[in-house]
Amino acid sequence: MGLKRLIRLCKTRLFRYIFVRNVEKISKLQSNNKNFRSIRDKICELGTDSLDYFGHDYKLEGGYFLQQNPDEFAALCLFLLDNGPYTNYLEIGTASGGTCLALSQLVGFSNAFSIDDGRHKRSICQQEHLSQIPNVRQFIGNSHSADAKQFLRRNVRGLLDVVFIDGDHSAEGVWKDVQLVLGFSRSGTLLIFHDTIASKGVEDTWLRSIRKKIIAPLAEYVGRDRAMGIGIGSVL
Ligand SMILES: C[S@@+](CC[C@H](N)C(=O)[O-])C[C@H]1O[C@@H](n2cnc3c(N)ncnc32)[C@H](O)[C@@H]1O
Repeated sequence: MGLKRLIRLCKTRLFRYIFVRNVEKISKLQSNNKNFRSIRDKICELGTDSLDYFGHDYKLEGGYFLQQNPDEFAALCLFLLDNGPYTNYLEIGTASGGTCLALSQLVGFSNAFSIDDGRHKRSICQQEHLSQIPNVRQFIGNSHSADAKQFLRRNVRGLLDVVFIDGDHSAEGVWKDVQLVLGFSRSGTLLIFHDTIASKGVEDTWLRSIRKKIIAPLAEYVGRDRAMGIGIGSVL
């Protein structure tokens, strides 16, 4: 390993130790929440994008085409159920629309907003899935564009309560998404970062947002197998 990479790795470990070692972990919910198993089972019945990648606990490849670790996603649902209700939910990077639909059914929001560039191979299912969500509005295009901001300005009444960030996974891309949504957030808006373990760019921006005091970290759910990492922070 080169020296530069080693320094970066040490920095990340240090930031993790300083900022996220005390946040809620998946193990707490797995052992303390009696609904964990049932919600995880429901998630597995919805279907995944890939059994090989997301695991054979899913009952089928297809359906909602979820790109989620079922343990992490179950923990996220329970966290959201405990902290709701919510009026406005935004997902950046909707792909099949399955995660948005699953969250609307398992958690519930009054209004949902989707921003996605339509380039994922599963985006052909997006329309079918999003159309089952009450009060959904959809923007197809780049989340970093002026049009995406305009879409939020025109459509979001009030402010966002929950934002699921899962679009461009480069550090710069995630950072731009954070900047975009801050303009539509209040103190307490929940920012969910998907892939804080699986993607270096997401991990860096998750930690950067905490270090810069944009969010207070509340939880990071990391599954034991095929970990992707879901970080949740509350806008300060
Ligand atoms: C990892 S997938 C999202 C998975 C989805 N959230 C789920 O849980 O099933 C990332 C999605 O973001 C889209 N995407 C990537 N960069 C984007 C950008 N700058 N603006 C909008 N969408 C983007 C991709 O085309 C893809 O549909």
